[in-house]
Amino acid sequence: MPGVFQFSPDGIVDEARRAQDLGLQAILLFGVPREKDEQASGAYAENGVVQKTLRAIKSKCPEVVAITDVCLCQYMSHGHCGVARIDGDHFHVLNDETVDLLVKTALSHAHAGADMVAPSDMMDGRIGAIREALDANGFDQTGIMSYAAKFASVFYGPFRDAAESPPKFGDRRSYQMDCANAEEALREVALDVEEGADILMIKPALPYIDILWRVRERFAKPTAVYHVSGEYAMVKAAAEKGFLDERAAVLEIMTSLKRAGADIIVTYWARELAEWVRE
Ligand code: PBG
Ligand code: ZN
Repeated sequence: MPGVFQFSPDGIVDEARRAQDLGLQAILLFGVPREKDEQASGAYAENGVVQKTLRAIKSKCPEVVAITDVCLCQYMSHGHCGVARIDGDHFHVLNDETVDLLVKTALSHAHAGADMVAPSDMMDGRIGAIREALDANGFDQTGIMSYAAKFASVFYGPFRDAAESPPKFGDRRSYQMDCANAEEALREVALDVEEGADILMIKPALPYIDILWRVRERFAKPTAVYHVSGEYAMVKAAAEKGFLDERAAVLEIMTSLKRAGADIIVTYWARELAEWVRE
């Protein structure tokens, strides 16, 4: 993705400081580990890449609000978001075994200083399990931003490249949501609310702006929207070809998301946007 880079833990500290100086509210961390295995051990390792980064941020610029993506796909050799069982040509992701590992991951992030965790896996029951474990370990002040309605989407393609996490077989449709089914999305969001999510997130953004609006209206909770890599790439590519004015397009898209109810926008344009808004 043009303009998108992987950083070392130390590089992130400078980046976090810059984000803060620009007036951005928070940063969202995604780990790209050196090694992967079938239990995603890097996700909950004491010295994992995200854990190291959190400690660096919290020792050098503690006021930065650090949110962590909690998922296993970048850490799994097969690239799925959970523990996979493979029988011949078929595979399925084991929900409860996955939840156990997600809980371990979220706890290790909290221990390393995360202000908020953001589970992006879409397993059933993970928000409640993570909330309970955080509370039981003295992290009752650590928030949960839930990827509450995350659709199976072609627009995650560039991210999977950047994060080195495309699945080696199959797809994510057994755990991510069906693009055609709005009612399922609202039921999934309702479960996350009951289980204790502090912020509800809808993802992707523009193709699901109806869901964003309905979730904001129905649940009246802080609502975030994730403008994803493919949405970013489309505008970037069009701008590079001279078809669109990037700045005007981005300002219009972000304004639309706000109009549709977003309290929080996750975007790869965050830095530029902060500057443009200020200007
Ligand atoms: C991993 C994760 C993905 C994204 C955020 N967290 C990829 C996926 O589910 O395949 C996508 C972000 C983007 O496209 O910008 N669970
Ligand atoms: Zn994942």
